[in-house]
Amino acid sequence: MKVDVVLGLQWGDEGKGKIVDVLTPQYNVIARFQGGPNAGHSLEFNQIKHVLHSIPSGIFHDDQINLIGNGVVIDPVIFKKEADSIYKLGVDLKKKLLISRKAHLILPSHRILDAASEAAKGITKIGSTLKGIGPTYMDKTGRNGLRVGDILQPDFREKYNYLTQKHKDLLRLYDYRYNIEEHEEQWFAGIEEMRGYTIVDSEYELNRLLKEGNKILAEGAQGTMLDIDFGSYPFVTSSNTISAGACTGLGFAPGRMGEVFGVFKAYCTRVGGGPFPTELLDETGTFLREKGHEYGATTGRPRRCGWLDLVALKYAILINGATQLFMTKADVLSDFETINICTGYWWQGRVIDYLPYDLGEIARPEYVSMKGWKRDISDISNKSEMPAELTDYIRFIEKETGVPVTLVSLGPDRKQFIFR
Ligand code: GDP
Ligand code: IMO
Ligand code: MG
Repeated sequence: MKVDVVLGLQWGDEGKGKIVDVLTPQYNVIARFQGGPNAGHSLEFNQIKHVLHSIPSGIFHDDQINLIGNGVVIDPVIFKKEADSIYKLGVDLKKKLLISRKAHLILPSHRILDAASEAAKGITKIGSTLKGIGPTYMDKTGRNGLRVGDILQPDFREKYNYLTQKHKDLLRLYDYRYNIEEHEEQWFAGIEEMRGYTIVDSEYELNRLLKEGNKILAEGAQGTMLDIDFGSYPFVTSSNTISAGACTGLGFAPGRMGEVFGVFKAYCTRVGGGPFPTELLDETGTFLREKGHEYGATTGRPRRCGWLDLVALKYAILINGATQLFMTKADVLSDFETINICTGYWWQGRVIDYLPYDLGEIARPEYVSMKGWKRDISDISNKSEMPAELTDYIRFIEKETGVPVTLVSLGPDRKQFIFR
């Protein structure tokens, strides 16, 4: 058996949560492989929207195991809140959720360090979600971090105190007022909650499940353009969001990777700072934001909106080895007479079809314009009902990328999609 992967091909918020929820019935295990509560994965059914931050998006189905992998960073406070709200919906979370012993913990002081670092950066700030992601991954690679397995050890409190003291020493470098103690009670309540879950050596568990013939779906967070190595650095997150990150974030071998489902919006959005070549700062951008409800699922911040960027999309497909493309939010483009697609960048007086080292140097995008379909498509349930202009739009993307678009999402609800 192989592990299939769902990941974002843009700047996050492509609709990964919805897609994972749609695919879950075809799998036995859903496993998150990186990121932390900076993610906000929305799914919708029975007219109710759910937003998940740390818990995999397969949790609302009955028969699947959901796993939080070693590559994920967990804030016990956010985890507990999320768990409580899922319990209220009648989901027996403790029965269905496994947590890796090797996943790292976000401490209250990591969040404070994140905020202090961003405040010190001033206008060059990254626009972090301020969930402590950067400092936690720094401690992971710096070999200082606390892991989920530590919460079961007798010296956990000492380890916590030691690391927190280290952070307090670091915080002296910043002109930043904080109070760690006021967050600690809730944090330790979250740790207590986590102790009640099945904490596993997830790499063994996952490989055993694979060997026994179970179908596994790996769920990514953020998007390729936010990848620590290949994204628009330094305006990125602190983990590998790409398909290779699924191997390191779960512990399966590269040869075990199956399909790589790359999710992209029919246009582009970005939340936070950093270059965004196709950004529309005019009324078209505002229209996309309002029609697409483009406000962050985690922070509520307005998302920056722009036309589809094929140069960045092709790059993402290359890095991930995407085998199938899933296009979301096509319904949001239904009102346009013409729709633009970026096929190149004006850079140093010429048009290029690759990402320059510094995306900030791009003067403007080069567009091709396509005819819009000017029709509500949110109720379509069969590909034969798709307007010809939408099919043309998709075929153009397929021709340019060389990868088939096999699923089109036409609304936020679980039922609103078509397989092509
Ligand atoms: P994720 O982080 O990739 O899971 O994406 P988010 O949940 O942050 O953002 C996607 C937003 O678009 C959510 O509000 C979804 O409910 C919504 N959504 C997902 N697919 C579609 C779609 O095809 N059409 C529309 N209109 N909304 C969608
Ligand atoms: P999902 O999984 C969109 C962005 C932040 C910021 C940068 C770094 O829902 O797609 P961080 O908190 O990681 O230090 O922030 O990355 N960012 C996201 N943008 N969707 C996300 O997750 C994101 N997670 C982080 O806005 O620009
Ligand atoms: Mg999101």
